[in-house]
Amino acid sequence: MSDNNEKIIVKGNGPLKGKVKISGAKNSALPILAACLLGTEDIILSEVPKLKDIEIMLEVLKSLGSEITYLDDTTIKINSKNINSYETPFELMDKMRASFVVMGPLLARFNKTKTKSPGGCNIGKRPVDLHLKGFKSLGAKTVQDHDEISAVAENGLKGAIIYLDFPSVGATQNIMMAATMAKGETVIENAAKEPEIVDLSNFLTKMGAKIRGAGTSIITIEGVEKLTGTNHAIIPDRIEAATYMIAAAMTKGDVVIENVIGAHIRPVIAKLIEVGATVEESKDEDIIRVKADKRLNGTTIKTLPYPGFPTDAQAQFMALMSICNGESRVKETVFENRFMHVDELVKMGASVLTEGNEAAILGVDKLKGANVKATDLRAGAALVMAGLVAEGETVISDIYHIDRGYSDIVGKFRNLGANIKRVKVD
Ligand code: EPZ
Repeated sequence: MSDNNEKIIVKGNGPLKGKVKISGAKNSALPILAACLLGTEDIILSEVPKLKDIEIMLEVLKSLGSEITYLDDTTIKINSKNINSYETPFELMDKMRASFVVMGPLLARFNKTKTKSPGGCNIGKRPVDLHLKGFKSLGAKTVQDHDEISAVAENGLKGAIIYLDFPSVGATQNIMMAATMAKGETVIENAAKEPEIVDLSNFLTKMGAKIRGAGTSIITIEGVEKLTGTNHAIIPDRIEAATYMIAAAMTKGDVVIENVIGAHIRPVIAKLIEVGATVEESKDEDIIRVKADKRLNGTTIKTLPYPGFPTDAQAQFMALMSICNGESRVKETVFENRFMHVDELVKMGASVLTEGNEAAILGVDKLKGANVKATDLRAGAALVMAGLVAEGETVISDIYHIDRGYSDIVGKFRNLGANIKRVKVD
């Protein structure tokens, strides 16, 4: 894992070629780790990605009293029988706002929970009003001030019908987990439909929860007395897969991506074909081959909740667009400030104009290496990808952002032929 004084140095080095194996999904592993707090027996999770964010979530579980054992690099045994606190340590919430999804399980276990108000982050304000609306509907009293958020259900949680004004992934997960042991039936309307919601629902069902409709906008949860243990393999990371697929196309390479579910990343496949790449999906295995042998053409993307184009692949696709033939357009509808990679791409010679949540990109023949800064996890990945096709050397700082969501990005790109290394600077 990186710290503040590491940088990634990339030199344009021609097409990517070879095979890359995708890791387990960060955005599925995080809520599933939180869901382990609901169980009182051994749980074994496999395909858990080696990431900074996962380390932080494991610290949160340990601080609450869960027993954690690594069985191998990506397999973890967790037992939360003896958890003895309903308060998430404030300093850990500061490190990772995604730890907010432990509130639902703690509310279900203790009928009360408290944590630090999760700050926004650089891609947006990231409010949690929909999470709290759900907890309130289930019978909890919630208090939020600048510093902390608490939820207390004196008479326990009772099923309710909860409409989400926005299909929030985190709110859907938090409410689903809180409702697993509420009295009676809960219906979440306008629920998020991401594959990570389905993976969480499958995991909870194996623990004895009664959930129907995950993957659709109506999820029904019938409360049960208790949840047991189980074994579960985390689904592949569709955003990591998208990152390498886009990199293969923009370097005019030929890359086989292993451990990817095509159905989970359909919009990115469609857009890669639209710009002129070739995408071959294997019938019976989770393998996708992406190749391109000529300059790609511009297109438009609009990010939307699943099954629309994923906001988490927007920065990476913009890196590809910056060297396409002609004009491209990007509209970011999920977060209010997710264009911070634009200034950094412009430093590398990209021609991008933004107005609010819209960007216009005019493809240039060549990017040039520059000193740039990762501003968030996906923006950082986009800069590595831009460096792969730039003339000369690109030095990327603040790479701790990248390590939060990409395991061994340097090794994986180097194995595909990239001229890339990680250096420590004093
Ligand atoms: C999850 O964040 C992912 N993170 C994000 O991935 C991803 O970008 C996002 O879903 C959308 O797909 C994890 O799963 C850990 P949301 P989450 O609640 O749950 C608004 C990455 O790069 N909103 O669906 O926080 C919110 O402001 C990260 O891996 C409310 O208004 O996303 C935002 O505009 C970045 N009120 C929109 O919904 C609420 O109570 C989407 O947020 C909650 C959210």
